[in-house]
Amino acid sequence: MRISVIGCGYLGAVHAAAMAELGHVVVGVDVDEQKIARLAVGDPPFFEPGLPEILRSALGSGRLRFSSDPADAAGAEVHFLAVGTPQAAGGHAADLRFVDAAFDALLPHLAPGAVVAGKSTVPVGTAERLADRLAEVAPHATLAWNPEFLREGFAVKDTVQPDRLVYGVRSPEASDVLDRVYASAIEAGTPRIVTDFATAELVKVAANAFLATKISFINAMAEIAETVGADVTQLADAIGHDTRIGRRFLNAGVGFGGGCLPKDIRAFTARAEELGRGESVAFLKEVDAINLRRRHRVVELARELLGGSVHGRKVAVLGVTFKPDSDDVRDSPALDIAVQLKGLGADVVAVDPEGVENARARHPQLEYSTSTATALDRADLVVLATEWAEYRALDPAETLRSVAAARIIDGRNVLDPDAWRAAGWTYRGLGRP
Ligand code: UDX
Repeated sequence: MRISVIGCGYLGAVHAAAMAELGHVVVGVDVDEQKIARLAVGDPPFFEPGLPEILRSALGSGRLRFSSDPADAAGAEVHFLAVGTPQAAGGHAADLRFVDAAFDALLPHLAPGAVVAGKSTVPVGTAERLADRLAEVAPHATLAWNPEFLREGFAVKDTVQPDRLVYGVRSPEASDVLDRVYASAIEAGTPRIVTDFATAELVKVAANAFLATKISFINAMAEIAETVGADVTQLADAIGHDTRIGRRFLNAGVGFGGGCLPKDIRAFTARAEELGRGESVAFLKEVDAINLRRRHRVVELARELLGGSVHGRKVAVLGVTFKPDSDDVRDSPALDIAVQLKGLGADVVAVDPEGVENARARHPQLEYSTSTATALDRADLVVLATEWAEYRALDPAETLRSVAAARIIDGRNVLDPDAWRAAGWTYRGLGRP
C-alpha cells in the first residue's frame, strides 16, 4: 500500500520505517528539515534500539523516503498523523497545535477514498472534530483513529508485533483499509478492536492512566513500607503472583517519567474537568503527587546519609534518562533528582550512556560525564537513578575502591542489598528496610 506518515518523531519515524519493512511504500513527512535530512540517510536523531537497522534496510529497498513537503503525501491510501501533543505551556491540557497544523497541511493532498488515521494521543473528542472538518473540506476522504501503544526502547517490536490493534472508525471501509495495512500482524493473531472514535481515543489514555496508577500504587506502598520497616519488593512479588494483579509495572522506585505517562495523566484530568467529569479521574492527581514525592524522598535520603546536608559533597547520579535503553530525558525522575541535589549545593556529576546530550541541553548547570568511573571517583554518595544494565551490574567491592565513602541509594531497587552491605556499603533502597 502507499502510506504517508505525518510527523517523524519517535512515533512517526518508527512507524514509517516499520511500515516500509512490512512491504508498504512509505513517505515520512516532517516540518523539521534537519530531522528529515538525518532520517533520509538512516541516522535517526534519537536513540532507539533496532531503528537504525530497519531504517537503513527500508531506505535501501527504495520503499521509504522522507520529505518536508506535505504535497509528497499526495496519492497515499492511508495518511498516519503521528505528531506530538505536548503539555500546553502554563497548563495541564494537551497542546493540539501540531495535530491541527498537520491535518490542515494534509487536506489539499487527499486522494478520493484516502483514510486519515490519527495515531497521536489526543483528548477525547478530537477525532470527532477532525472528522467534521474533513466532511466539510474533503468529503471524499475518511477519518479513523488508530492509537499507538509503543514503548520507548521496544518501539520497533511494539510496532511490528503490537499487543492489540484499536481502530476508531465510522465505516467498514476504513476498517478494511487498516486491516490491509496491518495484514501481517492480524495474520499472526494480533487482537483487533473495532470501535467508535471516542472509545479509541479513550483506550490510549486509559491504558496510560492505568499503568501510571499501578506504579504510583506500589510507590504508595513503598511509603508505608518505609514507615513500618517492610520490604516493598517482596510485597510486589507476593501480590504479583495473583494473576489478577500481575507483577509487571509494580517496580517501586523513583517513579515514572518520559514523554507520555506524566503528560497524558495530566491532559486526561484536564479533559475530564472540561467535560464536567473531573471527579471521575480526581485520583490521577494523587497518582501524579505520589510520583513526584518519590523524587523528593531520594533527596531527603541523600541529606540523611550525608549527615543533614548535601552542600559541597560529591554525589554521583547514575542515569539521567527516564528509563534505560533510551536517550529521552523528558520529565525524567533521574534528571530531576540530579537538579534538586545540585540546587541544594551538592557537587553533582551525572552520568548516562545515551542521555547526556539531551540532559545538557535542558540543564546546562549540571556537570555530566559518559564515564561511570569519572562520576564515581571520590564520590561521597552514589545514587542509582536509571537502571541501565551497566549500573545494575556494578560490583560492590570494585566500586568501593573508587568512591570516597561507601553510601548508595538504589533508586530503582535493582541491586542486591545483602551483597552491597556485605561489601561495606551503607545501602538504602526505596520502600525497603
Ligand atoms: C509508555 C507506555 O508503556 C506505552 O504503552 C505508551 O505508548 C507510551 O508510554 P514509555 O513512556 O516508553 O511507554 O515507558 P514505560 O516503559 O511505560 O515506562 C514509563 C516510566 O515508568 C519509566 O520512567 C519507568 O522507569 C517507570 N516505571 C515502569 C516504574 O517506575 N516502575 C515500573 O514498574 C515500570
